[in-house]
This record gives sequence, C-alpha cells and structure tokens, in this order.
Amino acid sequence: MIATKNFLTPEMIAQIEALAPRYPNRRALTLPALHIVNDALRYVPLEAVIEIADVLGLAPADVQDTLSFYAFFPQDKPAGEVRAWVCRSISCALRGGEQVLEHLCQAAGIEPGGTSADGAITVEAAECLGACDFAPCMLANKDLYKNLTPETAAAFLRDVRSRVTAD
Ligand code: FES
Repeated sequence: MIATKNFLTPEMIAQIEALAPRYPNRRALTLPALHIVNDALRYVPLEAVIEIADVLGLAPADVQDTLSFYAFFPQDKPAGEVRAWVCRSISCALRGGEQVLEHLCQAAGIEPGGTSADGAITVEAAECLGACDFAPCMLANKDLYKNLTPETAAAFLRDVRSRVTAD
C-alpha cells in the first residue's frame, strides 16, 4: 500500500508511479507529478513540493526549480474551480480580447490573475492559444471558448457560478 502524505494522496502517488515506465528516470517525472498534484489541489504548496521530491527521490529544490520555471502552478492558495485563460495576443487583441478579459474580470470582481471571492473562477491573461482563427478565445480548464464577446463571456461566468454553487 502507498503511504499517505499530508498533501499527496495515495491516488496521486499511484498516478505518478503509473507514469514512471514512460520516462527515462525519476527526475523526468517532475513536471507530470506537478500536473497531477495541481489538477487535484488546484495549487502546489511548498509542502507538496517537498512530498513530490520525496516520492521522486529528488531534492525539494529540484522540484521547486521546475515549478518556478513555469507561471502555471499557484503556490499560495488554490486557483478557482475554473481557471480561465483569456488570450491577449495579437489576433485576439485585434478582435476584442482585451475587452473580454476586462469584462470577465469586472463581472467576477477581480483583477487579471485573481480568483473570485466564491472560489468559482480564476481569470488570467494568456499568450496565443493556437486558435487565432477563432479570436478572441479563451481556455477554461480544458475547454476552448471561441469568438467571445463580453456577452458570451458574461454568460460563461454565470454558467460557471451556477455549476459551482450547485456542487
Ligand atoms: S492570438 Fe489568440 S489564439 Fe492566437
């Protein structure tokens, strides 16, 4: 049986271990392990970094190095249940992406990068999402939203909030 840690559950550790055969060494598992923990907790606190390092047989600084290379993993507190990345690169910017970002943040009562008080959503600015044909667009968790307008962004936020409060 896999030992429980404070932040890493046996399920998370089992998921990490299940990936091990696909990688040349334990160090190469660092990024997948960070994603597994982040998917489950919506953040990767320092304590979890130490636990990941323990599972992988690495120094905590090695794991923290990888984590801090990307701006993707929150460390202080969990991101919202939905993490929305609104594209601000050129095609989206020319087609109103900045207004969509501003409108979404305003409706959620936050600044870009912030999380709404109810924990429903974190809204962040993103660089090109590779879907310029559908500008302006947004990635929310794993779903791509295309051809957004302030109105469709507002409807998206209402939907997110109704789903979160229904849980
Ligand atoms: S510029 Fe927004 S998806 Fe490419």
